[in-house]
Amino acid sequence: MSDDRSDSLLSHPLAPGPGLSLAVRRFGTLGTGEAVEAYTFGNDRGLSATVLTYGGILQSLLVPDADGSLDDVVLGFDTLDRYVEASPYFGATIGRFANRIAGGRFSLDGVEYVLDRNDGPNNLHGGPEGLDRRLWCAGPVAGPDHAGVELAYLSPDGEMGFPGTVAIVVRYTVTRAGDLRIDYTATSDRNTVINLTNHSYFNLAGAGIGTIENHMLTLNASAFTPVDGTLIPTGEIRDVAGTPLDFRVASAIGDGLRRADEQMFRVEPDDGGYDHNMVLDSHGPTGAAAARVFEPGSGRALEMFTTEPGVQFYSGNFLDGIEGKGGRRYPHWGAFTLEAQRFPDSPNQAAFPSTRLPAGGRYSQSTVYRFTAPRRPGRPRADGTTADD
Ligand code: GLA
Repeated sequence: MSDDRSDSLLSHPLAPGPGLSLAVRRFGTLGTGEAVEAYTFGNDRGLSATVLTYGGILQSLLVPDADGSLDDVVLGFDTLDRYVEASPYFGATIGRFANRIAGGRFSLDGVEYVLDRNDGPNNLHGGPEGLDRRLWCAGPVAGPDHAGVELAYLSPDGEMGFPGTVAIVVRYTVTRAGDLRIDYTATSDRNTVINLTNHSYFNLAGAGIGTIENHMLTLNASAFTPVDGTLIPTGEIRDVAGTPLDFRVASAIGDGLRRADEQMFRVEPDDGGYDHNMVLDSHGPTGAAAARVFEPGSGRALEMFTTEPGVQFYSGNFLDGIEGKGGRRYPHWGAFTLEAQRFPDSPNQAAFPSTRLPAGGRYSQSTVYRFTAPRRPGRPRADGTTADD
């Protein structure tokens, strides 16, 4: 994945290339009186994303199915108030540190930092007022083959307990070819730790249409990091062979969810569930797909590529019928997340890949979600024609 930023909003304020669209509108107003905007950008195949300046949230993602019909495949809300009141991180940009840090504390260069806790004893997703709850500066991004939005946030020294003033830029783009791409960069004026991700909940049949049990999942991961009772990695890197976390060959998520397994019940004591960091076999700019998900009913497939060494696979275990967009309810196991990340609790786990960002250094992360839905032969498209025409 290249990191060409020459097309940022500073050099090309607007006007994406042919076959691309980009628009901005008011989404709502925060209690402080600050306006929240929604950027909507897409391609002429129907792929269209809406991103909010609040929380860097991917609020909507329209994707064509095998018949050319569009559905919104990410969970979320219609109004800003719902995001502010209580959102289980629907679509949000997550930081400064994705997933959990044990006991809400870590040491760096011999100094102990105590973080704000928001998940029992632990810090989860950066704390109670993480990046998912911040108002970001934003501007459009437009190029010959992509359109999107660039978001910027300056996190002050000590925010949520993390050291360093950190400048964070997140850029979402949709390409003509059908990718949703997210590029992150961060710099700090002090040594710190960082781990950014996106927390979109996907249901490829459409958000609020059943559960994800029929979705076929492939994960390019031969190992995972088992967790303790508070979902903190034990430090072990465990082989997936013989466990429900073995998705090296495509299998239905529901088959795994119904297998009795100590790790599955550890994350969800009643029914079991997935909430695990998968250790990817290959990653980086030219790596193979980290994950592939196929939903047979709609014919939609999602492939994910990432620079990151891990991905949190979560099966929506904490969803409980919460009402979302268009009044649709999101059931238990009603969505999955694939959160590209460095490993949870890395600041306390010396054997995990480092999450240290030195003063003056530059953190970057790129993740691509690629959508396809091969036309079904003979089936009518939305416009009445068929693939055989
Ligand atoms: C991540 C965590 C889960 C849960 C969700 C949000 O996926 O690993 O345990 O906190 O975020 O509900």
